[in-house]
Amino acid sequence: MDDPPSELLSSEAIQSRVTELGAQIARDYAGKSLVLLSVLKGSFVFTADLSRAIDLPLRVEFLGVRSYGDDTRSSGVVQITLDLTRPIAGEHVVIVEDIVDTGLTLSYLREQLLARAPASVKVCALLHKPARSVSPAHIDYLGFTVEDVFVVGYGLDHAERYRNLPYVGVLTTP
Ligand code: IMP
Ligand code: MG
Repeated sequence: MDDPPSELLSSEAIQSRVTELGAQIARDYAGKSLVLLSVLKGSFVFTADLSRAIDLPLRVEFLGVRSYGDDTRSSGVVQITLDLTRPIAGEHVVIVEDIVDTGLTLSYLREQLLARAPASVKVCALLHKPARSVSPAHIDYLGFTVEDVFVVGYGLDHAERYRNLPYVGVLTTP
């Protein structure tokens, strides 16, 4: 067996930050038509917790995106693997991302979504790795900034593994 990933952010630390982000979003979107747009697969755990921390009527949509091979480096190629089930025209969209690394996925997504005429598009990311930024990313709601390490858990994977870890950790045996 490989060593378990070493803990970087505990489950408790994540939960309390997610609660704060949810309260902030609830304040900002009161009275508006809100769509949480979860970017699969990595954001599924974050979206589940964040949505329950937002005390407002809202809609959840999923967009499947693949920007990585089974490697720990960005391929730079973004592929849409699953599209939205309903239009977002006239609605206020918050993109929910697990991690913004090079920023390539986010800039591609923003462009794609703006073409669908939403009322607004903002970004909520659990993690940001600014060291590797290629395309400048504006993140409206950010959980944590992390160093230039490959993280797994709480939805994030390495070769499809570790998504079910309750904490965010760093691989010790990559
Ligand atoms: P970007 O296009 O380079 O910003 O990469 C965005 C996507 O790459 C994220 O949504 C993740 O799915 C994946 N990714 C980037 N860094 C990591 C990491 O440290 N661990 C796991 N997945 C990552
Ligand atoms: Mg992702």
